[in-house]
Amino acid sequence: MNHIILIGFMGAGKTSVGKALAADLGLRFTDTDRLIEEQQRATVNEIFERHGEPYFRDLETAALKELLRARERLVIAVGGGLPVRPKNRKLLKELGTAVYLKAKVETLEKRLAGDQTRPKLKGGALREKIESLMEKRAALYEETAQLTLDTDGLTLQEVIKEIETNVL
Ligand code: S3P
Repeated sequence: MNHIILIGFMGAGKTSVGKALAADLGLRFTDTDRLIEEQQRATVNEIFERHGEPYFRDLETAALKELLRARERLVIAVGGGLPVRPKNRKLLKELGTAVYLKAKVETLEKRLAGDQTRPKLKGGALREKIESLMEKRAALYEETAQLTLDTDGLTLQEVIKEIETNVL
């Protein structure tokens, strides 16, 4: 089906870019976190609290498998931790073209300051949390994506144009 998939760290702009890109292309936008929350009738925070992270990661894998059955082309934003599992990276390859929205730690820190919705950022110093997660994930994002976009300094419209020029 060749869906367009947006990957990258929390706060990288996957949802904003995804919604605007989908509107521009006349495609439907979907987001694995929202799919999971709707199915579970619970927030990501609640799922982590009640069942733990591995359970949430299993739900992400299940969401990707479900998306493989979609009959229309989609723009899909996936949770920042989803590409960490090898199985998920394989499923992403089957689903379509992955675009890595890359952003500097400083940019992410500004956007994520005060956020209460993301369990991976709870407690402790935000900057250190971002840096240590990014250290583990950066290479995986690069390896998974067919296109990496440095989004710092680009407007939303410029990011969309880059994707449309390089992916379609
Ligand atoms: C996570 C990212 C979140 C969400 C969950 C875990 C992560 O998605 O899936 O809180 O491990 O990076 P966003 O990247 O959309 O914030």
